[in-house]
Amino acid sequence: MTALLEVEDLRVSYGKIEAVKGISFSVEAGQVVTLIGTNGAGKTTTLRTLSGLLKPTSGKILFDGKPLNGVAAHKIVALGLAHSPEGRHIFPRLTIAENLQLGAFLRKDKDGIEKDIQRAYDLFPILGERRKQAAGTLSGGEQQMLAMGRALMSQPKLLMLDEPSMGLSPIMMQKIMATISELKSQGTTILLVEQNAQAALSLADQGHVMEVGNVVLSGTGQDLLHDESVRKAYLGED
Ligand SMILES: Nc1ncnc2c1ncn2[C@@H]1O[C@H](COP(=O)(O)OP(=O)(O)OP(=O)(O)O)[C@@H](O)[C@H]1O
Ligand SMILES: [Mg+2]
Repeated sequence: MTALLEVEDLRVSYGKIEAVKGISFSVEAGQVVTLIGTNGAGKTTTLRTLSGLLKPTSGKILFDGKPLNGVAAHKIVALGLAHSPEGRHIFPRLTIAENLQLGAFLRKDKDGIEKDIQRAYDLFPILGERRKQAAGTLSGGEQQMLAMGRALMSQPKLLMLDEPSMGLSPIMMQKIMATISELKSQGTTILLVEQNAQAALSLADQGHVMEVGNVVLSGTGQDLLHDESVRKAYLGED
């Protein structure tokens, strides 16, 4: 069986600087796979390349059996790959409901869209309570919920989350992680980029550790959680 996403020897450069230096990994349908690693390791660059926002210099990306190289970003969304970006990028002046509707910009099934907006409100009740409010009035954690809800509105086969816990209080972070677990139990396939290695590895089926553009270690979430070098470098133990 081929994986839902297969990345093979992917390289991405900004001008002369190579940020991703030939990485390979795959994501099976139904899995949560995490990329962890320090600042500047190339995690965001990898997700932006998968979304079609950056062009790889070489390498293969196969999604749902189709090559993504050279495919435009909006077509990649239509194929079923959604991206909740680092820093969230919600539209602060639009309402929460309008932000969610924008996530469904490629869909024409009005009833289905309404149902999925309701689903986002079930997943994140605060979004439902504030549906008519400008999204800019939400707290950081609530904006993260909105960014995730918006990404889900395209009914993705694969949901990519870039640092969903960034800047959040421990309680809000737990909430976001619990939601990722819930999405996983509903069968959503997730590629999760996180600085919080402990939280990410705890719920991931597979993990890959990135350092300066390379994947230096791969394993199950549990294996990496118990790996001595990971514990030292990423879990703050000596
Ligand atoms: N637009 C850009 N132009 C030039 N270099 C860039 C650009 N964006 C990122 N880089 C560089 O590419 C490398 C990888 O950056 P990237 O944002 O992918 O890392 P990251 O793993 O997501 O880090 P973080 O954990 O801090 O978000 C870094 O050295 C960064 O400085
Ligand atoms: Mg990043």
